[in-house]
Amino acid sequence: MAKLVILISCALLLAAACHGLQVGYYQKTCPNAEALVHAQVKKAVRADAGSGAGLIRMLFHDCFVEGCDASVLLDPTSANPQPEKLGAPNNPSLRGYEVIDAAKGAVERACPGVVSCSDIIAFAARDASYLLSDARVSFHVPAGRLDGRRSVANDTLLFLPGPSSNLSTLVSGFAAKGMSTEDMVVLSGAHSIGRSHCSSFVQDRLASQSDISVPLASLLRQRCPASPTTANDPTVVQDFVTPRKLDNQFYRNVLARRVLFTSDAALLTAPGTGKMVRANAKFPASWEKKFARAMVKMAATGVKGNGVGEVRKNCRFVN
Ligand code: HEM
Ligand SMILES: *[C@@H]1O[C@H](CO)[C@@H](O)[C@H](O)[C@H]1NC(C)=O
Ligand SMILES: *[C@@H]1O[C@H](CO)[C@@H](O)[C@H](O)[C@H]1NC(C)=O
Repeated sequence: MAKLVILISCALLLAAACHGLQVGYYQKTCPNAEALVHAQVKKAVRADAGSGAGLIRMLFHDCFVEGCDASVLLDPTSANPQPEKLGAPNNPSLRGYEVIDAAKGAVERACPGVVSCSDIIAFAARDASYLLSDARVSFHVPAGRLDGRRSVANDTLLFLPGPSSNLSTLVSGFAAKGMSTEDMVVLSGAHSIGRSHCSSFVQDRLASQSDISVPLASLLRQRCPASPTTANDPTVVQDFVTPRKLDNQFYRNVLARRVLFTSDAALLTAPGTGKMVRANAKFPASWEKKFARAMVKMAATGVKGNGVGEVRKNCRFVN
């Protein structure tokens, strides 16, 4: 039964989303791989829901830069002192690296050299979505990705749209990665969990004229310095209504002008995306399904295989 469901859900996806990747890829070579990753993610999310938010964001930041190849996990070395991890969109805000290390440790003990770090990121983002949505966002992740060896900090600025982006920049940034405008709107719902540093929004949302709601603006002014610096950059939750729940509250917040970023508010600046926001605000179950589908699609971006790439021994270093 489970297998049939998997086959059907794969058949319904865009061909691209299943390209070369397979649900149950480790069934023969490391049958417990997905369960071992799930256990580590569950433990981490129980201790700190924020680590789960970090893992969902990690999939986005991995896949949009050099494909879903775990390039985001590489630590600086003398051979490569400026990897993606040190790029402005990741440093210091991206979190969850220790959870990936723990999951990799568990699968290496069970089946050394078999499970790629890039598949672990995709499994972990899936598991975090499931756990943070109270099991409402549930999906299978096709696997078989290989890990890359190139990781360049400045690439992050080229491919990850920033929080000051307008709608056309968001749409073209996603289109460049084969993702539709609807995928972009649907995945932005991830801003219903986790946090943001004040520096990501103070300048264009509080210090300048913006459409942010007056009560939220005054709350944020209490929590954030007028000019955040590296040394003084507190964090606030993204969603002040259900901060630890991955749900469609984000879209209600967009409609109420209670979102942190210019890029979130920008979803209302064209009729087409505005309509999507209203539909997602109104129909939670439909958004949950679309979110799951878009995560699977994003997780197939620029995947390496067929002799390109490797299964890293340690997720922080190339072999
Ligand atoms: C549409 C373009 C997007 C922009 C401009 C954007 C921007 C941002 C920014 C600036 C932050 C706060 C970082 C910080 O200061 O700590 C953030 C947080 C976050 N983003 Fe996005 N994001 C986008 C799309 C996405 C997508 C596609 C996902 C995943 C599906 C995602 C998931 C998250 C999550 C879960 C957090 C909270 C992270 C945490 O608590 O550690 N974002 N995003
Ligand atoms: C990377 O970007 C920074 C800041 O924009 C710039 O100063 C630096 O020269 C860039 N490095 C390379 C190798 O392009
Ligand atoms: C959106 O932002 C880009 C980059 O900053 C800019 O070139 C473009 O003119 C802006 N588009 C609109 C419609 O404001």
